[in-house]
Amino acid sequence: MSQPETPSPRRFSVAGPLTGRVRVPGDKSISHRSIMFGALAVGRTTVTGLLEGEDVMATAAAMRAMGAGVERTRDGAWNIDGVGVGGLLQPQAALDMGNSGTSTRLLMGVIASHGITATLTGDASLSKRPMGRVTEPLSQMGADFTCAPGANNSQTLPLTMRGAHPAVPIEYRLPVASAQVKSAVLLAGLNTPGITTVIEPVPTRDHTERMLTGFGAQLTVEEIDGDRVIRIHGEANLRAQQIVVPGDPSSAAFFVVAALLVEGSDLVIENVGLNPTRAALFDVLRQMGGSIEELDRREVGGEPVADLRVRHSALTGIDVDPAVAPAMIDEFPVLFVAASLAKGRTVTSGLDELRVKESDRLAAMAAALTLAGARIEEREDGLVIDGTGGTPLTGTTTDEAVVTHLDHRIAMSMAIAGLASTGGVEVDDTAPIRTSFPTFEVLLAQAASAQ
Ligand code: S3P
Repeated sequence: MSQPETPSPRRFSVAGPLTGRVRVPGDKSISHRSIMFGALAVGRTTVTGLLEGEDVMATAAAMRAMGAGVERTRDGAWNIDGVGVGGLLQPQAALDMGNSGTSTRLLMGVIASHGITATLTGDASLSKRPMGRVTEPLSQMGADFTCAPGANNSQTLPLTMRGAHPAVPIEYRLPVASAQVKSAVLLAGLNTPGITTVIEPVPTRDHTERMLTGFGAQLTVEEIDGDRVIRIHGEANLRAQQIVVPGDPSSAAFFVVAALLVEGSDLVIENVGLNPTRAALFDVLRQMGGSIEELDRREVGGEPVADLRVRHSALTGIDVDPAVAPAMIDEFPVLFVAASLAKGRTVTSGLDELRVKESDRLAAMAAALTLAGARIEEREDGLVIDGTGGTPLTGTTTDEAVVTHLDHRIAMSMAIAGLASTGGVEVDDTAPIRTSFPTFEVLLAQAASAQ
Protein backbone atom coordinates (compact mmCIF):
# COMPACT_ATOMS: atom_id res chain seq x y z
CA MET A 1 0.00 0.00 0.00
CA SER A 2 1.18 3.59 -0.67
CA GLN A 3 2.66 5.31 2.37
CA PRO A 4 0.35 7.91 3.96
CA GLU A 5 1.72 11.44 3.52
CA THR A 6 1.94 14.07 6.24
CA PRO A 7 -1.33 16.03 6.05
CA SER A 8 -1.17 19.63 4.86
CA PRO A 9 -3.91 21.61 6.63
CA ARG A 10 -4.91 25.08 5.38
CA ARG A 11 -7.48 27.76 6.04
CA PHE A 12 -9.38 29.24 3.07
CA SER A 13 -10.97 32.64 3.76
CA VAL A 14 -12.72 35.50 2.02
CA ALA A 15 -10.53 36.95 -0.72
CA GLY A 16 -11.08 39.59 -3.37
CA PRO A 17 -13.42 39.03 -6.31
CA LEU A 18 -12.13 36.57 -8.91
CA THR A 19 -11.15 38.45 -12.04
CA GLY A 20 -8.86 38.20 -15.06
CA ARG A 21 -8.18 34.91 -16.81
CA VAL A 22 -7.12 31.46 -15.60
CA ARG A 23 -6.24 28.35 -17.53
CA VAL A 24 -6.97 25.05 -15.79
CA PRO A 25 -4.76 21.99 -16.44
CA GLY A 26 -5.46 19.19 -18.87
CA ASP A 27 -8.38 16.79 -18.57
CA LYS A 28 -7.61 13.91 -16.21
CA SER A 29 -9.67 11.28 -18.04
CA ILE A 30 -8.13 12.17 -21.40
CA SER A 31 -4.61 12.35 -19.92
CA HIS A 32 -4.82 8.80 -18.50
CA ARG A 33 -6.10 7.48 -21.80
CA SER A 34 -3.45 9.34 -23.84
CA ILE A 35 -0.72 7.50 -21.96
CA MET A 36 -2.41 4.10 -21.95
CA PHE A 37 -3.45 4.14 -25.59
CA GLY A 38 -0.11 5.63 -26.66
CA ALA A 39 1.63 2.80 -24.79
CA LEU A 40 -0.49 0.27 -26.72
CA ALA A 41 0.10 1.88 -30.13
CA VAL A 42 2.96 1.29 -32.52
CA GLY A 43 5.32 4.27 -32.75
CA ARG A 44 5.65 7.55 -30.82
CA THR A 45 2.57 9.37 -29.56
CA THR A 46 3.10 13.01 -28.60
CA VAL A 47 0.85 14.60 -26.00
CA THR A 48 0.59 18.31 -25.22
CA GLY A 49 -1.42 19.71 -22.32
CA LEU A 50 -1.12 16.49 -20.31
CA LEU A 51 -2.26 16.83 -16.70
CA GLU A 52 0.85 16.36 -14.55
CA GLY A 53 -1.06 15.32 -11.43
CA GLU A 54 -0.23 12.35 -9.23
CA ASP A 55 -3.02 10.16 -10.63
CA VAL A 56 -1.78 10.51 -14.20
CA MET A 57 1.80 10.00 -13.05
CA ALA A 58 0.68 6.68 -11.50
CA THR A 59 -0.56 5.61 -14.95
CA ALA A 60 2.73 6.76 -16.52
CA ALA A 61 4.81 4.76 -14.02
CA ALA A 62 2.69 1.63 -14.56
CA MET A 63 3.01 1.80 -18.36
CA ARG A 64 6.78 2.26 -18.01
CA ALA A 65 6.92 -0.76 -15.70
CA MET A 66 5.23 -2.77 -18.47
CA GLY A 67 7.70 -1.73 -21.17
CA ALA A 68 6.44 1.53 -22.74
CA GLY A 69 8.51 4.71 -22.94
CA VAL A 70 6.76 7.63 -21.20
CA GLU A 71 8.91 10.76 -20.97
CA ARG A 72 8.40 14.50 -20.57
CA THR A 73 10.25 16.64 -23.10
CA ARG A 74 11.98 19.90 -22.19
CA ASP A 75 9.13 21.97 -23.65
CA GLY A 76 6.54 20.21 -21.47
CA ALA A 77 5.11 17.81 -24.08
CA TRP A 78 5.13 14.06 -23.41
CA ASN A 79 6.43 11.32 -25.70
CA ILE A 80 4.92 7.87 -25.38
CA ASP A 81 6.76 5.07 -27.16
CA GLY A 82 4.26 2.25 -27.55
CA VAL A 83 4.83 -1.49 -27.44
CA GLY A 84 1.78 -2.37 -29.60
CA VAL A 85 -1.41 -4.16 -28.49
CA GLY A 86 -0.32 -7.48 -26.96
CA GLY A 87 3.23 -6.27 -26.34
CA LEU A 88 3.13 -5.35 -22.64
CA LEU A 89 5.82 -6.93 -20.45
CA GLN A 90 5.41 -8.53 -17.07
CA PRO A 91 6.03 -5.81 -14.42
CA GLN A 92 8.87 -6.68 -12.02
CA ALA A 93 7.27 -5.07 -8.94
CA ALA A 94 3.79 -4.19 -7.66
CA LEU A 95 2.12 -1.33 -9.57
CA ASP A 96 1.33 1.49 -7.12
CA MET A 97 -1.89 3.17 -8.24
CA GLY A 98 -1.81 5.76 -5.44
CA ASN A 99 -5.26 7.38 -5.13
CA SER A 100 -6.36 6.70 -8.71
CA GLY A 101 -9.42 4.59 -9.46
CA THR A 102 -9.20 5.39 -13.18
CA SER A 103 -5.61 4.11 -13.44
CA THR A 104 -6.57 0.97 -11.53
CA ARG A 105 -9.74 -0.02 -13.34
CA LEU A 106 -8.60 0.84 -16.86
CA LEU A 107 -5.25 -0.92 -16.38
CA MET A 108 -7.02 -4.00 -15.03
CA GLY A 109 -8.82 -4.08 -18.39
CA VAL A 110 -5.58 -3.71 -20.33
CA ILE A 111 -3.78 -6.42 -18.34
CA ALA A 112 -6.79 -8.79 -18.50
CA SER A 113 -6.03 -9.81 -22.09
CA HIS A 114 -2.23 -9.83 -21.85
CA GLY A 115 -0.61 -13.06 -20.62
CA ILE A 116 1.09 -11.34 -17.69
CA THR A 117 0.69 -11.29 -13.93
CA ALA A 118 0.52 -8.00 -12.02
CA THR A 119 -0.10 -6.86 -8.46
CA LEU A 120 -1.91 -3.54 -7.98
CA THR A 121 -1.78 -1.55 -4.75
CA GLY A 122 -3.16 1.81 -3.66
CA ASP A 123 -3.49 4.30 -0.81
CA ALA A 124 -5.97 3.99 2.06
CA SER A 125 -8.78 5.61 0.03
CA LEU A 126 -8.29 3.49 -3.11
CA SER A 127 -7.92 0.32 -1.03
CA LYS A 128 -11.53 0.74 0.14
CA ARG A 129 -13.04 1.16 -3.34
CA PRO A 130 -14.99 -1.69 -4.97
CA MET A 131 -13.16 -3.60 -7.70
CA GLY A 132 -15.76 -6.38 -8.13
CA ARG A 133 -17.44 -4.22 -10.80
CA VAL A 134 -14.39 -4.84 -13.05
CA THR A 135 -13.22 -8.27 -11.86
CA GLU A 136 -16.68 -9.64 -12.73
CA PRO A 137 -16.66 -8.95 -16.52
CA LEU A 138 -12.89 -9.43 -16.80
CA SER A 139 -13.19 -12.88 -15.15
CA GLN A 140 -15.79 -13.77 -17.78
CA MET A 141 -13.13 -12.89 -20.36
CA GLY A 142 -10.74 -15.35 -18.69
CA ALA A 143 -8.63 -13.21 -16.35
CA ASP A 144 -7.93 -14.49 -12.88
CA PHE A 145 -7.95 -12.35 -9.68
CA THR A 146 -6.92 -12.68 -6.07
CA CYS A 147 -8.23 -9.68 -4.14
CA ALA A 148 -8.19 -8.51 -0.55
CA PRO A 149 -11.66 -8.93 0.94
CA GLY A 150 -13.27 -5.51 1.57
CA ALA A 151 -16.33 -4.43 3.57
CA ASN A 152 -19.65 -6.17 2.66
CA ASN A 153 -17.86 -8.89 0.65
CA SER A 154 -16.56 -6.37 -1.87
CA GLN A 155 -13.28 -7.03 -3.66
CA THR A 156 -10.61 -4.42 -3.00
CA LEU A 157 -6.91 -3.65 -3.51
CA PRO A 158 -4.30 -4.95 -3.08
CA LEU A 159 -5.01 -7.49 -5.81
CA THR A 160 -3.00 -9.80 -8.01
CA MET A 161 -4.28 -10.63 -11.46
CA ARG A 162 -3.27 -12.95 -14.25
CA GLY A 163 -4.36 -11.88 -17.71
CA ALA A 164 -5.77 -14.41 -20.19
CA HIS A 165 -4.15 -14.95 -23.55
CA PRO A 166 -6.15 -15.43 -25.64
CA ALA A 167 -9.03 -13.85 -23.74
CA VAL A 168 -12.67 -14.59 -24.59
CA PRO A 169 -14.87 -11.87 -26.16
CA ILE A 170 -18.05 -11.11 -24.21
CA GLU A 171 -21.20 -9.06 -24.50
CA TYR A 172 -21.56 -7.12 -21.27
CA ARG A 173 -24.44 -4.97 -20.07
CA LEU A 174 -23.21 -2.44 -17.53
CA PRO A 175 -24.98 -2.86 -14.18
CA VAL A 176 -23.70 0.57 -12.98
CA ALA A 177 -23.29 3.79 -14.98
CA SER A 178 -19.49 3.76 -15.01
CA ALA A 179 -17.09 4.89 -17.72
CA GLN A 180 -14.32 3.08 -15.88
CA VAL A 181 -16.09 -0.28 -16.11
CA LYS A 182 -17.07 0.34 -19.74
CA SER A 183 -13.47 1.27 -20.57
CA ALA A 184 -12.00 -1.73 -18.73
CA VAL A 185 -14.05 -4.15 -20.85
CA LEU A 186 -13.32 -2.30 -24.12
CA LEU A 187 -9.59 -2.20 -23.34
CA ALA A 188 -9.57 -5.92 -22.57
CA GLY A 189 -11.36 -6.34 -25.91
CA LEU A 190 -8.48 -4.63 -27.74
CA ASN A 191 -6.31 -7.74 -27.45
CA THR A 192 -9.11 -10.33 -27.58
CA PRO A 193 -9.96 -12.25 -30.77
CA GLY A 194 -13.40 -11.39 -32.20
CA ILE A 195 -15.80 -8.67 -31.12
CA THR A 196 -16.28 -7.49 -27.55
CA THR A 197 -19.55 -5.66 -26.87
CA VAL A 198 -20.52 -3.30 -24.05
CA ILE A 199 -24.14 -2.25 -23.63
CA GLU A 200 -24.62 1.02 -21.81
CA PRO A 201 -28.19 1.73 -20.64
CA VAL A 202 -27.13 5.16 -19.32
CA PRO A 203 -24.49 7.07 -21.32
CA THR A 204 -21.26 7.92 -19.49
CA ARG A 205 -18.19 9.90 -20.59
CA ASP A 206 -17.18 8.71 -24.04
CA HIS A 207 -13.45 9.57 -24.19
CA THR A 208 -12.44 5.91 -24.60
CA GLU A 209 -14.67 5.49 -27.66
CA ARG A 210 -13.58 8.78 -29.25
CA MET A 211 -9.88 8.28 -28.59
CA LEU A 212 -9.64 4.59 -29.55
CA THR A 213 -11.30 5.48 -32.85
CA GLY A 214 -8.69 8.21 -33.32
CA PHE A 215 -5.95 5.63 -32.69
CA GLY A 216 -7.40 3.49 -35.50
CA ALA A 217 -9.34 0.83 -33.57
CA GLN A 218 -12.44 -0.57 -35.25
CA LEU A 219 -15.12 0.57 -32.85
CA THR A 220 -18.79 1.19 -33.50
CA VAL A 221 -21.49 2.82 -31.38
CA GLU A 222 -25.17 2.17 -32.08
CA GLU A 223 -28.35 3.30 -30.33
CA ILE A 224 -30.60 0.26 -29.92
CA ASP A 225 -33.86 0.56 -27.95
CA GLY A 226 -32.47 3.39 -25.84
CA ASP A 227 -29.18 1.57 -25.09
CA ARG A 228 -25.76 2.56 -26.39
CA VAL A 229 -24.18 -0.56 -27.89
CA ILE A 230 -20.41 -0.33 -28.29
CA ARG A 231 -18.52 -2.97 -30.23
CA ILE A 232 -14.76 -3.27 -30.55
CA HIS A 233 -12.87 -5.54 -32.94
CA GLY A 234 -10.04 -7.28 -31.11
CA GLU A 235 -6.41 -7.89 -31.97
CA ALA A 236 -6.35 -4.26 -33.01
CA ASN A 237 -3.45 -2.30 -34.42
CA LEU A 238 -3.28 1.14 -32.88
CA ARG A 239 -1.39 3.91 -34.68
CA ALA A 240 0.55 6.54 -32.72
CA GLN A 241 -1.18 9.96 -32.50
CA GLN A 242 -0.53 13.63 -31.80
CA ILE A 243 -2.83 14.51 -28.92
CA VAL A 244 -3.81 17.92 -27.55
CA VAL A 245 -5.53 17.55 -24.18
CA PRO A 246 -8.29 20.13 -23.52
CA GLY A 247 -8.68 21.75 -20.06
CA ASP A 248 -10.52 19.68 -17.47
CA PRO A 249 -14.17 20.76 -16.93
CA SER A 250 -14.04 19.03 -13.53
CA SER A 251 -11.21 21.35 -12.47
CA ALA A 252 -12.82 24.40 -14.10
CA ALA A 253 -15.92 23.65 -11.99
CA PHE A 254 -14.25 24.96 -8.81
CA PHE A 255 -13.44 28.31 -10.43
CA VAL A 256 -16.89 28.57 -12.01
CA VAL A 257 -18.60 28.12 -8.64
CA ALA A 258 -16.11 30.43 -6.88
CA ALA A 259 -16.77 33.22 -9.41
CA LEU A 260 -20.55 32.76 -9.11
CA LEU A 261 -20.39 33.00 -5.31
CA VAL A 262 -17.86 35.76 -4.65
CA GLU A 263 -19.32 39.24 -5.07
CA GLY A 264 -17.82 41.37 -7.84
CA SER A 265 -16.28 38.41 -9.68
CA ASP A 266 -15.93 38.41 -13.46
CA LEU A 267 -13.56 35.63 -14.49
CA VAL A 268 -12.64 33.98 -17.78
CA ILE A 269 -11.61 30.33 -17.53
CA GLU A 270 -9.79 29.40 -20.73
CA ASN A 271 -9.83 26.20 -22.76
CA VAL A 272 -12.55 24.26 -20.89
CA GLY A 273 -13.52 20.89 -22.36
CA LEU A 274 -17.28 20.80 -22.99
CA ASN A 275 -17.86 17.22 -24.11
CA PRO A 276 -21.63 16.77 -23.55
CA THR A 277 -20.96 13.65 -21.44
CA ARG A 278 -19.06 15.88 -18.98
CA ALA A 279 -20.55 19.37 -19.02
CA ALA A 280 -23.92 19.09 -17.23
CA LEU A 281 -22.79 21.12 -14.20
CA PHE A 282 -22.65 24.29 -16.28
CA ASP A 283 -26.26 23.78 -17.47
CA VAL A 284 -27.45 23.09 -13.92
CA LEU A 285 -25.74 26.24 -12.63
CA ARG A 286 -27.33 28.26 -15.44
CA GLN A 287 -30.74 26.85 -14.46
CA MET A 288 -29.98 28.12 -10.94
CA GLY A 289 -29.40 31.62 -12.37
CA GLY A 290 -25.63 31.50 -12.88
CA SER A 291 -24.12 33.74 -15.55
CA ILE A 292 -21.82 31.44 -17.52
CA GLU A 293 -21.09 32.52 -21.07
CA GLU A 294 -19.25 30.43 -23.67
CA LEU A 295 -16.68 32.39 -25.67
CA ASP A 296 -14.86 31.20 -28.79
CA ARG A 297 -16.35 27.70 -29.00
CA ARG A 298 -13.93 25.49 -30.96
CA GLU A 299 -12.53 21.96 -31.21
CA VAL A 300 -9.36 20.83 -29.44
CA GLY A 301 -8.14 17.26 -29.85
CA GLY A 302 -11.53 16.17 -31.22
CA GLU A 303 -13.40 17.59 -28.19
CA PRO A 304 -15.61 20.71 -28.01
CA VAL A 305 -13.90 23.47 -26.01
CA ALA A 306 -14.70 27.08 -25.06
CA ASP A 307 -13.52 29.83 -22.73
CA LEU A 308 -16.09 30.40 -19.98
CA ARG A 309 -16.85 33.91 -18.73
CA VAL A 310 -18.42 33.65 -15.30
CA ARG A 311 -19.90 36.54 -13.35
CA HIS A 312 -21.10 36.72 -9.75
CA SER A 313 -24.80 35.77 -9.72
CA ALA A 314 -27.66 35.30 -7.28
CA LEU A 315 -28.44 31.56 -7.39
CA THR A 316 -31.78 29.85 -6.73
CA GLY A 317 -32.16 26.25 -5.56
CA ILE A 318 -33.59 23.63 -7.95
CA ASP A 319 -34.44 19.92 -8.14
CA VAL A 320 -31.51 18.44 -10.06
CA ASP A 321 -32.71 15.87 -12.60
CA PRO A 322 -31.01 12.54 -11.65
CA ALA A 323 -30.74 11.73 -15.39
CA VAL A 324 -27.94 14.30 -15.74
CA ALA A 325 -25.88 12.80 -12.90
CA PRO A 326 -23.45 10.75 -15.05
CA ALA A 327 -22.57 13.89 -17.05
CA MET A 328 -21.51 15.73 -13.88
CA ILE A 329 -20.70 12.86 -11.52
CA ASP A 330 -17.46 14.42 -10.22
CA GLU A 331 -18.98 17.90 -9.84
CA PHE A 332 -21.59 17.23 -7.14
CA PRO A 333 -19.32 18.19 -4.22
CA VAL A 334 -18.87 21.70 -5.61
CA LEU A 335 -22.53 21.91 -6.70
CA PHE A 336 -23.44 21.26 -3.03
CA VAL A 337 -21.36 24.31 -2.11
CA ALA A 338 -23.19 26.47 -4.69
CA ALA A 339 -26.54 25.15 -3.42
CA SER A 340 -25.59 26.03 0.18
CA LEU A 341 -25.43 29.71 -0.84
CA ALA A 342 -28.47 29.67 -3.18
CA LYS A 343 -31.91 30.98 -2.32
CA GLY A 344 -34.28 28.16 -1.39
CA ARG A 345 -34.00 24.40 -1.58
CA THR A 346 -31.86 22.23 -3.85
CA VAL A 347 -32.75 18.54 -4.04
CA THR A 348 -30.37 15.94 -5.49
CA SER A 349 -31.09 12.23 -5.90
CA GLY A 350 -29.91 9.12 -7.76
CA LEU A 351 -26.36 9.67 -6.49
CA ASP A 352 -25.54 6.27 -4.91
CA GLU A 353 -22.29 6.19 -6.94
CA LEU A 354 -21.00 9.18 -4.94
CA ARG A 355 -20.65 6.86 -1.95
CA VAL A 356 -17.87 4.86 -3.68
CA LYS A 357 -15.67 7.66 -5.04
CA GLU A 358 -12.35 8.71 -3.44
CA SER A 359 -14.51 9.07 -0.31
CA ASP A 360 -18.20 8.68 0.46
CA ARG A 361 -18.89 12.10 -1.03
CA LEU A 362 -22.47 12.37 0.25
CA ALA A 363 -21.41 11.76 3.85
CA ALA A 364 -18.18 13.77 3.57
CA MET A 365 -19.83 16.86 2.01
CA ALA A 366 -22.84 16.70 4.37
CA ALA A 367 -20.48 16.68 7.37
CA ALA A 368 -18.12 19.34 6.00
CA LEU A 369 -20.82 21.78 4.89
CA THR A 370 -22.79 21.32 8.11
CA LEU A 371 -19.64 22.14 10.08
CA ALA A 372 -19.23 25.28 7.94
CA GLY A 373 -22.77 26.38 8.81
CA ALA A 374 -24.86 25.12 5.85
CA ARG A 375 -28.25 23.44 6.25
CA ILE A 376 -28.00 19.93 4.82
CA GLU A 377 -30.13 16.81 5.02
CA GLU A 378 -28.32 13.64 3.97
CA ARG A 379 -30.49 11.06 2.24
CA GLU A 380 -29.52 7.59 1.03
CA ASP A 381 -28.99 8.74 -2.58
CA GLY A 382 -28.48 12.49 -2.39
CA LEU A 383 -28.41 15.68 -0.34
CA VAL A 384 -31.19 18.18 0.26
CA ILE A 385 -29.80 21.64 0.85
CA ASP A 386 -31.56 24.75 2.16
CA GLY A 387 -29.41 27.61 0.95
CA THR A 388 -28.68 30.89 2.71
CA GLY A 389 -29.84 33.07 -0.19
CA GLY A 390 -26.42 34.62 -0.60
CA THR A 391 -25.56 35.26 3.07
CA PRO A 392 -22.03 33.90 3.65
CA LEU A 393 -21.65 30.65 5.60
CA THR A 394 -20.30 31.04 9.13
CA GLY A 395 -17.21 28.92 8.42
CA THR A 396 -15.30 26.74 10.88
CA THR A 397 -13.06 27.50 13.84
CA THR A 398 -9.34 26.68 13.58
CA ASP A 399 -9.58 23.67 15.88
CA GLU A 400 -12.53 22.29 13.89
CA ALA A 401 -11.22 21.37 10.45
CA VAL A 402 -13.43 19.76 7.80
CA VAL A 403 -12.32 16.20 7.05
CA THR A 404 -11.36 15.47 3.44
CA HIS A 405 -10.77 11.68 3.71
CA LEU A 406 -7.92 11.73 1.12
CA ASP A 407 -10.40 13.14 -1.43
CA HIS A 408 -9.12 15.99 -3.65
CA ARG A 409 -12.60 17.13 -4.62
CA ILE A 410 -13.76 17.46 -1.00
CA ALA A 411 -10.66 19.58 -0.26
CA MET A 412 -11.18 21.88 -3.28
CA SER A 413 -14.95 22.19 -2.76
CA MET A 414 -14.48 23.21 0.86
CA ALA A 415 -11.76 25.67 -0.16
CA ILE A 416 -14.40 27.38 -2.33
CA ALA A 417 -16.87 27.26 0.58
CA GLY A 418 -14.18 29.09 2.58
CA LEU A 419 -14.20 31.98 0.09
CA ALA A 420 -17.96 32.30 0.66
CA SER A 421 -17.82 32.27 4.48
CA THR A 422 -17.38 35.01 7.06
CA GLY A 423 -14.85 33.17 9.22
CA GLY A 424 -13.05 30.98 6.67
CA VAL A 425 -12.98 27.19 6.40
CA GLU A 426 -10.19 25.07 7.87
CA VAL A 427 -9.42 22.10 5.56
CA ASP A 428 -7.62 19.25 7.34
CA ASP A 429 -5.50 18.19 4.36
CA THR A 430 -4.82 19.84 0.99
CA ALA A 431 -2.21 17.24 -0.10
CA PRO A 432 -4.77 15.18 -2.10
CA ILE A 433 -5.35 18.19 -4.40
CA ARG A 434 -2.08 17.22 -6.12
CA THR A 435 -3.75 14.09 -7.54
CA SER A 436 -5.81 16.08 -10.06
CA PHE A 437 -5.04 19.82 -9.85
CA PRO A 438 -1.54 20.62 -8.56
CA THR A 439 -1.82 24.33 -9.46
CA PHE A 440 -5.22 24.87 -7.75
CA GLU A 441 -4.03 27.05 -4.87
CA VAL A 442 -1.72 29.16 -7.05
CA LEU A 443 -4.44 29.81 -9.64
CA LEU A 444 -6.97 30.64 -6.94
CA ALA A 445 -4.62 33.20 -5.37
CA GLN A 446 -3.88 34.61 -8.84
CA ALA A 447 -7.58 35.02 -9.75
CA ALA A 448 -8.39 36.61 -6.38
CA SER A 449 -5.66 39.24 -6.71
CA ALA A 450 -5.85 39.90 -10.46
CA GLN A 451 -7.58 43.29 -10.48
C1 S3P B 1 -13.70 8.39 -14.96
C2 S3P B 1 -14.95 7.89 -14.73
C3 S3P B 1 -15.76 8.24 -13.54
C4 S3P B 1 -15.22 9.48 -12.82
C5 S3P B 1 -13.73 9.42 -12.68
C6 S3P B 1 -13.05 9.34 -14.03
C7 S3P B 1 -12.99 7.99 -16.19
O1 S3P B 1 -15.74 7.14 -12.64
O2 S3P B 1 -15.82 9.60 -11.54
O3 S3P B 1 -13.24 10.58 -12.01
O4 S3P B 1 -11.98 8.64 -16.55
O5 S3P B 1 -13.42 7.02 -16.83
P1 S3P B 1 -16.85 5.96 -12.68
O6 S3P B 1 -16.60 5.15 -13.88
O7 S3P B 1 -16.62 5.22 -11.39
O8 S3P B 1 -18.17 6.67 -12.71
